[in-house]
Amino acid sequence: MGECPEPTLPEYAFIGRSNVGKSSLINLLTNNSKLAKVSGKPGKTQLINHFLIDDSWYLVDLPGYGWAKVSKTQKAAWKKMIWGYFEQRPNLTNVFVLIDSRHEPQKIDLEFVNDLGMAGLPLTLVFTKVDKKGANQAQSNMALFRKVLKKNWEELPPDFMTSTVTGYGREDVIGYIRGINEEIGIQ
Ligand code: GTP
Ligand code: MG
Repeated sequence: MGECPEPTLPEYAFIGRSNVGKSSLINLLTNNSKLAKVSGKPGKTQLINHFLIDDSWYLVDLPGYGWAKVSKTQKAAWKKMIWGYFEQRPNLTNVFVLIDSRHEPQKIDLEFVNDLGMAGLPLTLVFTKVDKKGANQAQSNMALFRKVLKKNWEELPPDFMTSTVTGYGREDVIGYIRGINEEIGIQ
């Protein structure tokens, strides 16, 4: 946290299970496959990474939660760092929570979304890897996820579907960020 840039510009953070595709999505959005480090092995991103866009706002890549093959101590340290970040960034504009669209709702994702909601953070869901099992499967898993969330949420967060392989959803997510930036006076 101590090495994060001064919290003067709006920032958009990406969180989700290890390997869900956070770093890949940042690369897709920025059209730069070398920006954030990607790996087939869960647990690649280990620190808070700020990417400055147009000198006026940040995309923030975070370590994942869940099944990275790292020690319990390491996991606890990441958890502390991630929550320290969520709780101490006054300029945090939106949190994108990434969820693997191939799976039915997983407890760990539901809990994380609920915890972020309880913390009062503005959330958006992104269902990733839609190329793998197709849009129908993704849609049905998304519908199930929304149904479970509805038990706790009065109003559901917005959601998107993406694929970093086909580029699906890229323009939607960019348009969404642009819309928020305009609202807060960033061009
Ligand atoms: P950690 O940093 O370990 O938490 O992972 P991450 O969430 O940043 O995932 P990362 O972007 O490193 O991607 C993990 C793996 O999923 C890599 O092998 C990617 O190529 C793959 N991947 C990411 N997005 C997609 C997608 O939309 N479709 C497919 N087919 N593979 C994807
Ligand atoms: Mg990563």
